[in-house]
Amino acid sequence: MIDVTIDSASQDATQAVGSALGPIVTPGDVVILSGDLGAGKTQLTKGLATGLGVSEPVTSPTFNILLVHQGRLPLYHFDLYRIDTAGQLEDLDYWGMLEADGVSVVEWGDRFAEAVPQECVVVTIHVVDDESRSLVLSGRGVRGEELAAAWARACAGLIGVSVSFGASS
Ligand SMILES: Nc1ncnc2c1ncn2[C@@H]1O[C@H](COP(=O)(O)OP(=O)(O)OP(=O)(O)O)[C@@H](O)[C@H]1O
Ligand SMILES: [Mg+2]
Repeated sequence: MIDVTIDSASQDATQAVGSALGPIVTPGDVVILSGDLGAGKTQLTKGLATGLGVSEPVTSPTFNILLVHQGRLPLYHFDLYRIDTAGQLEDLDYWGMLEADGVSVVEWGDRFAEAVPQECVVVTIHVVDDESRSLVLSGRGVRGEELAAAWARACAGLIGVSVSFGASS
């Protein structure tokens, strides 16, 4: 399994990391975001929206659970913080949306094992200090590994961003 650590020195740098993913994603790609309140999950998603050419503002879907934005591809932005049981995902047609024609980003997606598909990139955001974050990308399945590697390569050279590759079993 490929593991990549991306260090971000600022909110803008985290958005730039998200934006770098925009040109690479294809329909059905899923990014699961894990990390504490205020880690930067929504900031990363805002960047992805920019990279997909979404023109409207992207806000946190904490109260809506799902917000959809139209860019080069549809962006399905989930936040599972207020979901109590995995059964409620059924009501949202969660799995149907993940397999649809867009790219899905799921904040708090690690709260339920059932919410993490076999093929995805899991991003765990660690708060280092007020301004710095460490983003650990873990590719799952063939497509997840390919996407994580391509994303990491696309981040090389971004201002305030440093990328280090590692492998785990
Ligand atoms: N390097 C950084 N990357 C991202 N955000 C940063 C960074 N440094 C500081 N911040 C700040 O951290 C906060 C991140 O907020 P954000 O809403 O993205 O978190 P979140 O993980 O989505 O939280 P929640 O679980 O509440 O949805 C913002 O206030 C942002 O300005
Ligand atoms: Mg958020």
